[in-house]
Amino acid sequence: MLHKIFDLPIYLSPVAAHAETKESVLREIEKLKQDPRSYNPSGNERVYSDYMFGDEPKARKYKDEVIDSVKPNVEDFMGMVGAKQLDFGQIWFQRYETHSFHGVHNHWPSLFSIVYYLEFDPAEHRGTVFANPNRLQIDLYRARNIKLPVAFAPDIKEGDILIFPSFLDHYAPMNVSDKPRTIISFNFDLTG
Ligand SMILES: [Fe+2]
Repeated sequence: MLHKIFDLPIYLSPVAAHAETKESVLREIEKLKQDPRSYNPSGNERVYSDYMFGDEPKARKYKDEVIDSVKPNVEDFMGMVGAKQLDFGQIWFQRYETHSFHGVHNHWPSLFSIVYYLEFDPAEHRGTVFANPNRLQIDLYRARNIKLPVAFAPDIKEGDILIFPSFLDHYAPMNVSDKPRTIISFNFDLTG
């Protein structure tokens, strides 16, 4: 018998209230982008974000609206993994304009993380890419002609939310389109 152990839950579903949420949240993000602290490029990322604003009141309004919009999806996920109590941690936006990217990183020690694709065109953009946590084995397998997938990239539509274990390494490929790609990112904890 072959045991495939340590399955990882990756959840993807559409947010029902996306159309209304998109319009008002993008308006707030445009305002937040005017703050010079929102653009702080480094070697591993080049995005507009309010991550460094923490819980400042001016960023709180859109966050409460986004939480209301994604809650049914998160509760659906909780039912699937048998969790009863939810505790949202930090929430922030990331806006990828032309040539923006976010290199390989993870959100550990949070338990789960969310990407909500607020502005996304599948014809122009690429979604989040997850690195295979077995990748240290990949070269060893390859040398013996056994193939393992290097990465997993789910098919994304605008308005989807993606939930994944926070320890998983992932990245946002460079946006080579003129159209911006905007996501809301969350960390959260669950209790059974
Ligand atoms: Fe991330």
